[in-house]
Amino acid sequence: MLVTRFSPHLFPWRLLLLFLTLVGSSNGAVAAPAKAHPPRPKAAAGFGYKLVSLVELPNGGGLVGSLQLKQPSSTYGPDIARLRLFVKHETQDRVRVQITDAEKQRWEVPYDLLPREPAPPLTKLPGGAPFTTGEYSGQSLSFTYGRDPFHFAVHRKSTGQTLFNTSHGGPLVFKDQYLELTTRLPKDAALYGLGENTQPGGIKLRPNDPYTIFTTDASAINLNTDLYGSHPVYVDLRNIGGHGVAHAVLLLNSNAMDVFYRGDSLTYKVIGGLLDFYFFAGPTPLAVVDQYTAMIGRPAPMPYWAFGFHQCRWGYQNLSVVEAVVEGYRNAQIPLDVIWNDDDHMDAAKDFTLDPVNYPRPKLLAFLDKIHAQGMKYIVLIDPGIAVNSSYGVYQRGMERDIFIKLDGQPYLAQVWPGPVYFPDFLNPNGASWWIDEVRRFHELVPVDGLWIDMNEVSNFCTGKCTIPTTHKCPVPNSKEPWLCCLDCKNLTNTRWDDPPYKINASGKSAPLGYNTIATSATHYNGILEYNAHSLYGFSQAIATHKGLQGLQGKRPFILTRSTFVGSGAYAAHWTGDNKGTWENLRYSISTILNFGIFGMPMVGADICGFYPADPNLLEELCSRWIELGAFYPFSRDHANFASPRQELYIWGSVAKSARNALGMRYRMLPYLYTLNYHAHQSGAPVARPLFFAFPDFVPGYGVSTQFLLGDSVMVSPVLEQGATSVSAVFPPGTWYNLFDTRKVIVSGNNGDAVKLDAPLNEINVHVHEGTVLPLQRGGSISRDARATPFTLVIAFPFGAADADAEGAVYVDDDERPAMVLAEGEATYVRFHASVRGGKEVTVRSEVSMGSYSLKKGLVVEKLSVLGLEGSGRDLAVRVDGTEEADATAIAVASAHFVGADEKLQEVGKKRSVMVEVGGLALPLGKSFTMTWNMHIQA
Ligand code: GLC
Repeated sequence: MLVTRFSPHLFPWRLLLLFLTLVGSSNGAVAAPAKAHPPRPKAAAGFGYKLVSLVELPNGGGLVGSLQLKQPSSTYGPDIARLRLFVKHETQDRVRVQITDAEKQRWEVPYDLLPREPAPPLTKLPGGAPFTTGEYSGQSLSFTYGRDPFHFAVHRKSTGQTLFNTSHGGPLVFKDQYLELTTRLPKDAALYGLGENTQPGGIKLRPNDPYTIFTTDASAINLNTDLYGSHPVYVDLRNIGGHGVAHAVLLLNSNAMDVFYRGDSLTYKVIGGLLDFYFFAGPTPLAVVDQYTAMIGRPAPMPYWAFGFHQCRWGYQNLSVVEAVVEGYRNAQIPLDVIWNDDDHMDAAKDFTLDPVNYPRPKLLAFLDKIHAQGMKYIVLIDPGIAVNSSYGVYQRGMERDIFIKLDGQPYLAQVWPGPVYFPDFLNPNGASWWIDEVRRFHELVPVDGLWIDMNEVSNFCTGKCTIPTTHKCPVPNSKEPWLCCLDCKNLTNTRWDDPPYKINASGKSAPLGYNTIATSATHYNGILEYNAHSLYGFSQAIATHKGLQGLQGKRPFILTRSTFVGSGAYAAHWTGDNKGTWENLRYSISTILNFGIFGMPMVGADICGFYPADPNLLEELCSRWIELGAFYPFSRDHANFASPRQELYIWGSVAKSARNALGMRYRMLPYLYTLNYHAHQSGAPVARPLFFAFPDFVPGYGVSTQFLLGDSVMVSPVLEQGATSVSAVFPPGTWYNLFDTRKVIVSGNNGDAVKLDAPLNEINVHVHEGTVLPLQRGGSISRDARATPFTLVIAFPFGAADADAEGAVYVDDDERPAMVLAEGEATYVRFHASVRGGKEVTVRSEVSMGSYSLKKGLVVEKLSVLGLEGSGRDLAVRVDGTEEADATAIAVASAHFVGADEKLQEVGKKRSVMVEVGGLALPLGKSFTMTWNMHIQA
């Protein structure tokens, strides 16, 4: 469902219908109407503050200062006269700078939702010593300030570089409903983040594009606008003397905001809460996400099967259709792990129910028994809106426990798919426990393997204060447009929460804040205003849902959520929402996915083949290309709107072929993806990464948004253009081997020249970088079976290597266990090291931690493919642990394709390289091994 924020009473409905027609949507999709910027007041919003005192708290407790307003301004409301400044180096790589009202507690992201170090209370501060030095230093970062007007800066100590600097950018403004602060930035800083936002310009933030942050059910086809999630964080990458150095800045605030990035400055305009900044020192991009997720919560461990392929569609009218889809995949021999239902299984779109006619429970249970026996999984959708229906148990129990969000003392009435609904309040402990109980009850009805929580921005088809109409039925029976509001509603403009003085939305749309969501004057538990908590809705729902699922059978939960906030990655996966079957949308998906890796939510994908209907004449080719890319999304799911043509991958022979090829490789790479999942859970490292994560010094890679890495060594270079049979790709320095045919080699220099790669319709380019030991398995059509097959280690040395090393790792565990830890008997972690010395001596060894789990599972390594060696391989005497002999063959490789590589490399290129295959092995993965041989060098 998509909306744009505009005033419905002003908005011409005929235009809306025209938009609906234009986008061809049956799900309320409306393209963002272009409007002039609303007039901005000319008067200054504020005149700044001066620092009147600053003390250092004992025991490293931080600095506490007092700020005094310099001169009042009435724009956007009266200023807060006295502010409290708090600065603390919370870890060696993180400093927090918080500015808030000195007298009164203000709204901030609840600590029970996002646990973190508390700031000192406003009153009864422990006595401190006056702090008069100009600089407050931590291990990596230092904080400096100026007194009048107050301004501050954060520096990197090792280089003295200024990372954030509020001097000369404009005054600090702090009002009840308007906060403003500006930092200066060097013009050549590359910025990433600030979402959720579809960025047509790619992953690198573009100066003057709008970055508005407020969770909104505006579909992903809307460019540069505030979408489903709120992530007010950016990574700033600067090339200093040839080295890429990164840090990140989080403004932890759940209120609506505009962020204006001008290239040499960045301004926050926020309509509530605190200025609560966290600076993460990096200096590598991976260190940044490590430090960031250490604070906001590590990404949730995903079950193994979640990395399998998923199929969904809105409009599987009955169970037979679902059964046929599973059969279709099986017959076409395309891998499929998870089959989904949208709301079709529900009785009249009511959560936690089954349609007795189309999805009768006994038949559904028999179907689930069958697919579960094969190792497949089943996931269904739920929406937050609970149908107002006195004979509906979920509603009755919710009313009894009084857990719905209220307006004027009554549950807030909204409309979503079932018609009139109330929204549960997940900030209310009773609301969360009621939900957990409903999840449990539903699981007894249908043993689902995961839950999909949708529409949780939260989406409402109506706006304002509504009542159930007396003159017509709502929902309108058999409506073809169930997303149109059928309640009787009046707009709310009489409170400062519904109509705040500053109107967000940098793109210039002038809609009420509560447009198509809960009225912002509505209240949650304890009187918490929706105005403040709005963007936390999906986050709080994900936490409750996670608790609900985790309590069941003690399994690792899988949750897919549409709306997200800082920290959601610790509970759920995300998909990019309602996109469209177009080539542009195929391209946009990459930047959004990479952004979510930065946001600490690495399990992310886009609807493969597009959600809103594509041009049926273009869909086949598009879908081929989309599955080739989507097979390498961390979360890989095909999903469509009911009005779209059928787009399961087996529908067309050519798409099926692309799918078998690309998903075939994904299923071989599952151990690698799953190990990335483990690393993500340990250190926040994204599964899919922008090039600069692994190659921060490679400047041509900073803006690349058409290719990406899985981990730091597998490069995906998809075709994103209609009709193309080649792709122009950039490779950071070193040797890259095509994983589908390792004889196809690219040797790249560091100037970023593009290479033209062949890309016939059914093929995607996926390369592995030198220095890698990549664990693969045989693949298969269900991950449960694929994960039991023998391993092949692909060992990539630089082309024609004389002295080189390669490294890799694999993590295996029992993914039914909730925790993802390395514990004896429950998981095994194996590191692989390979080296070549003098172009001759080759050693491959493994180092096993907690081998018993893998031994119990009987996992073995059957083959090594060693790439890039010189010489010939005939009669190689390969020894394992110095005793056993193994079979080895060497396959000649044509010389590599050199791109911008220097002369020395070209020289090497004259030589030929061989690929040594050591096969016929049965080395237990759980036992350390060493393997050695000598290459024969031809004269
Ligand atoms: C929303 C979701 C979409 C789903 C639809 C019906 O638009 O984003 O994925 O199919 O609702 O439930």
